[in-house]
Amino acid sequence: MRRTLILLSAGAVTAAAAVVALSPSANAATTLGAAAAEKGRYFGTAVAAYKLSDAVYSGILDREFTSVTPENEMKWDATEPSQGTFSYAAADTIVNRALANGQKVRGHALAWHSQQPSWAQNLSGAALRTAMVNHVTQVATHYRGKIDSWDVVNEAFADGSTGARRDSNLQRTGNDWIEVAFRAARAADPGAKLCYNDYNTDGQNAKSNAVYAMVQDFKARGVPIDCVGFQSHFNAQSPLPADYQANLQRFANLGVDVQITELDIEGSGSAQAASYAAVVRACLAVTRCNGITVWGIRDSDSWRAGGTPLLFDGNGNPKAAYTAVLTELGGATPSPSVSASVSASVSPSVSPSDPQAGSGCAATTSVNAWTGGFVVTVKVTAGAARINGWTVAVTLPSGSTITNTWNATASGSGAFTNVGYNGGVAAGGSTEFGFQGTGTALTGTPTCTAR
Ligand code: G3I
Repeated sequence: MRRTLILLSAGAVTAAAAVVALSPSANAATTLGAAAAEKGRYFGTAVAAYKLSDAVYSGILDREFTSVTPENEMKWDATEPSQGTFSYAAADTIVNRALANGQKVRGHALAWHSQQPSWAQNLSGAALRTAMVNHVTQVATHYRGKIDSWDVVNEAFADGSTGARRDSNLQRTGNDWIEVAFRAARAADPGAKLCYNDYNTDGQNAKSNAVYAMVQDFKARGVPIDCVGFQSHFNAQSPLPADYQANLQRFANLGVDVQITELDIEGSGSAQAASYAAVVRACLAVTRCNGITVWGIRDSDSWRAGGTPLLFDGNGNPKAAYTAVLTELGGATPSPSVSASVSASVSPSVSPSDPQAGSGCAATTSVNAWTGGFVVTVKVTAGAARINGWTVAVTLPSGSTITNTWNATASGSGAFTNVGYNGGVAAGGSTEFGFQGTGTALTGTPTCTAR
């Protein structure tokens, strides 16, 4: 026993030395979510329930994102189409799928002047106030324990220089409607962060000053508020403001978290990429910036599709903006040129999990498991020689099933082989793939076989 321990620790020292020798980029995360996680943040996207059956869409969603926001499915018109009758099917699909994949959920939005069902549009005064409180209570209760952050109130301030509240049927029920909504949400789901969310508040201006004053007042009076969402829809008419970071910081200084909640930036190429990178930089520079959500996955998924404002093109290929965001988060894309240039030098197959031997590869796992499901991220690290392909074998308990794989091809019975772009791994370098499943997660250490 003692001898085994000594041998094991000698091996650990060798392995540790090999890891220390890796260049920083060799260890870099290769997805937005993984890279953001290394910075203590989430990277999310808006999701439309009806697109989840699109394999390209859901493949990118599961590979890249660690948070989701239902784009329309939690809004008042969707969840309470007739008064007192609640309809959660579409939102439940998104929420339960996200939680099963280990993704956080941003709830959007409990009280908003827009996308109200027609019955609510026709109410006013005390009847509307009562209906609003009931709606907030019912929906937040239905999702209690599942929501990381709720947009409790959305877009309640007017654009322009007045700093006034937006006129709406909700506003006409009395100026206190916002704090009443926040108190109802807190009572219904004490564990969720409660956010105020708006657009054109991304820099310092009359509108953001008015939101700032409201948050300051809520904090002073003990009205429950935990976060402010900055939608960050940018285009030529409404570009990324120069004081974006300063504006996030001044809100954070009030004692609330800040979140970038609906990011999209119209444009293309390096200009678009530079703006995206600047947004990421700003969030990383503000300690209380929890994460970034982009408002859709592919350009074709956007509410502003014509402005090509997102990180993936219509075919699901990552754009320059994607690479800029990943790089700014400290991640790195797997280089296609690496795998393209290695076909001439195929090294002999080596024994599994033996990187110390001077060639071969090792696999380590990070497991996120819950009752009934799991997500496993596997890091494949080349030994002292470059490898040209790899197969990782894991042991799954009987009854467990793999339901989805990314950055690898599952070849049955727990074996995963590289895909085209990540087979070639430089000496000491690494790449990641992942899979999710139902049942209990893997047992034992995976083996890695190199080609
Ligand atoms: O589902 C119906 C479909 O049955 C019908 O055939 C079709 C015809 O127009 O409409 C479909 O619903 C549309 C829905 O998006 C789903 O695509 C609605 O008309 C349309 O109004 C709705 O637009 C949404 C918009 O909010 C409504 O205000 C966008 O998808 C959504 O991206 C957008 O998101 C908002 C945030 O909630 C708040 N901040 C601004 C942001 C962008 O506008």
